[in-house]
Amino acid sequence: MARAWIAGTGAYLPAKVLTNFDLEKMVDTSDEWITQRTGIKERHIAAEDEAVSDLVIKAARPALEMAGAAPQDIDAVIICTITPDNSFPSTACLVQKGLGLRPGIPAFDISAACSGFVYGLIIADSLIRTGAVKCVLLAGAEILSRITNWTDRNTCVLFGDGAGVAIVAPSPDPSRGLVASCWHADGSLGDLLIQPAGGSRLPASAETVAAGLHTIHMSGNEVFKHAVRAMSQAAETVLNQARIPPEEVKLFVPHQANIRILEATCQRTRIPLERTVLAIDRIGNTSAATIPIGLDMAVREGRISAGDAVLLDAFGGGFTWGAALVRW
Ligand code: ACO
Repeated sequence: MARAWIAGTGAYLPAKVLTNFDLEKMVDTSDEWITQRTGIKERHIAAEDEAVSDLVIKAARPALEMAGAAPQDIDAVIICTITPDNSFPSTACLVQKGLGLRPGIPAFDISAACSGFVYGLIIADSLIRTGAVKCVLLAGAEILSRITNWTDRNTCVLFGDGAGVAIVAPSPDPSRGLVASCWHADGSLGDLLIQPAGGSRLPASAETVAAGLHTIHMSGNEVFKHAVRAMSQAAETVLNQARIPPEEVKLFVPHQANIRILEATCQRTRIPLERTVLAIDRIGNTSAATIPIGLDMAVREGRISAGDAVLLDAFGGGFTWGAALVRW
């Protein structure tokens, strides 16, 4: 049975750029602190009239073009996001309509925070291997600026907006495609990274808005420690599964949350930073979007060729984490 393979990628970053210097005027912070502690220099912020489906639609067009696929070729839509346009209809349904995809195909969102794209790729692979579908439009997309507390310097300097799309199709050759993967969750640690209100537990009210409960609340230090450990372990698991030593990984595409997390993960995984996608300085943490945006940058810069071993690795709220090894 053919495994999943990434036939095309695309990305879209909103036009507005918010620099660390802009943030200096908003909260008690400095470019020096943000750069040293996170590696972030700037992030993109969606326009007021842009929602996540708009970002996905813009990222999907170049992805379809690269894959040589038409909208009619798409058999399923999976959108990984924690900032959907609406709770329902799903953003996937809105993308189906916006791109003019075939009516009747399955379309759904998944919520796995920053691990969304890795989760989505594993789901797409399962659907393709069983023969249920052939061609999946898979996106990681976020407008985190809408759930950011812009008065909290601990969190507001970290996040950004953007979308990345992969067209996932059956591998043209048995040696290529998704060769190994793992995905995990530990719900007992969910409170360390949470948007407390807006769901059925704490529906929106004047009180929840006044208390800032619709924004991201994070215990940064705790998240940091778990992220390094979990991402290193996930990388090791899939390299062992695929029987590939770290030296054979052509490109490492980890979730972009903090340059120090990336450096520590690279060191533990024994993959040098030179073979790692580092986009954190330009995009900040865009949650589920960072891996597909990073992949698209790498593909378009010519850093990946057919047959290369590409390692994806993520950690995020839930907690969730996972990794995937793709033979390009
Ligand atoms: N500017 C200036 N000072 C600041 C800022 C800021 N923007 N933010 C915090 N500080 C201060 C703190 O108040 C603290 O001061 P104090 O010592 O006087 O109390 C000091 O800097 C150190 O704060 P720490 O929180 O210890 O800083 P740390 O080095 O841990 O960096 C950070 C914080 C960047 C949040 C880091 O812990 C981190 O990156 N954590 C992981 C985040 C992550 O991976 N998230 C992933 C998932 S996101 C998702 O799923 C949506």
